[in-house]
Amino acid sequence: MKISVAGTGYVGLVTGVCLAEYGHTVTCVDIDERKVALMESGISPIYEPGLEELMNKNMERLHFTTDYGRAYEDADVIFIGVGTPEKQDGSANLTYVYGVAEEIAASIKKDCVVVVKSTVPIGTNDKIEEVIKSNLQHDVNVYVASNPEFLSQGSAVKDTLNTSRIVIGVEEEFAGSVLQEVYKDFNAPIVVTNRKSAEMIKYASNDFLALKISFINEIANLCEIIGADIEDVAHGMGFDKRIGDKFLNAGIGYGGSCFPKDTKALHWLANFHDYELKTVKAAIDVNENQKLKLIKKSRKYYESLKGLNIAVLGLTFKPGTDDLREAPTLVNIPLMVEDGANVRAWDPVGIENFKKLHPKSVTYCASIEETLQNADICFIFTEWDEVKAFDLNKYSELMKHPIVIDGRNCYQLSDVKKAKIVYDSIGRETIQ
Ligand code: UGA
Repeated sequence: MKISVAGTGYVGLVTGVCLAEYGHTVTCVDIDERKVALMESGISPIYEPGLEELMNKNMERLHFTTDYGRAYEDADVIFIGVGTPEKQDGSANLTYVYGVAEEIAASIKKDCVVVVKSTVPIGTNDKIEEVIKSNLQHDVNVYVASNPEFLSQGSAVKDTLNTSRIVIGVEEEFAGSVLQEVYKDFNAPIVVTNRKSAEMIKYASNDFLALKISFINEIANLCEIIGADIEDVAHGMGFDKRIGDKFLNAGIGYGGSCFPKDTKALHWLANFHDYELKTVKAAIDVNENQKLKLIKKSRKYYESLKGLNIAVLGLTFKPGTDDLREAPTLVNIPLMVEDGANVRAWDPVGIENFKKLHPKSVTYCASIEETLQNADICFIFTEWDEVKAFDLNKYSELMKHPIVIDGRNCYQLSDVKKAKIVYDSIGRETIQ
């Protein structure tokens, strides 16, 4: 089977490489010549654990090109894995997806199955089919299937190779049987449904997880007020299999390229159909407030941030990625700078990306120690292992005023109590 993949971002590249790992010959297409040249020489353009190794291991079955015409003309299956970023109004921007659909229509010379992996609003697969069929240059049959992905950044390769489920949304049997053949060596349950349901499974899954996070964050906020401990509360809840113990980590809200975008897009879609998704709206609102929690907490210790030396640990939206999309630091650091603070920041992989956005207003440090030197306050935005393993005594040794505001509950309170620091975290007692 000849497979092509449009787009070499997180979804496209990981899909292509993992399909090659399962024995398929895959051509990955991207418009960016620089990226294609990098991938041809065995370098992954994105930071994703295990991806580059797997790419190099399967190089004989992987091809990279900007020439979509040749990649698509005789493909049996074409995966669409390009981005669907958020528009100003919260809806999904489908320009890239439709662009690829037009390119496919212009190129294919034999029957083929077009598989939509990008997260697209419900009903988009139908429109993709229309776009392709109305622009076809040759007399061929095209079948469009929805096949959402469930990978998380930072564990994308592992999540794809060991996916929790394979969802196939089709309108006729042929596309379904081709996709079952593509995935025959994957050890995962297969859910076959219609296209709209498959599209909805993706949104409903992400929005439910976002809701779970906003729920636990609200409970954490209440725990702080009434004196309960969110870690114990979440632990106690997690034993109930109907609730589950995953995604109950309270913090400063969800970021990344998926939850913020997918919650807003589904909410927007519901509104468009005159329906209000109240739970999803609440998840979005709670998350917006939660992002600002650390600066709000700092007011307990300083009236203003003006002139303060602030140490920021972690810039990315979560550990294991250099991605800054919707990271809480993107709103918080400019606020600190605006207030006249001197911001020093550390992150093991996110600095280069952050520097592109804020080249001068932040001092970037090579180590946690360097960041903490002489600081009046420290904000923890990302729970990197280096932060979690950091010797708590060093905060008081290095900082001018050892006030640590932890947005990711990196430390056990019992350990913190032994160190001479002020420690304010999420949904837990403040240690003075
Ligand atoms: C998310 C989903 O987890 C994937 O299943 C999905 O396929 C993906 O979106 C997608 O649609 O492409 P991702 O955005 O990479 O994956 O990252 P997550 O690990 O889910 O984390 C998202 C955010 O939620 C992070 O900011 C993280 O810090 C936050 N989070 C997560 C919490 O605040 N608490 C938790 O308990 C879990």
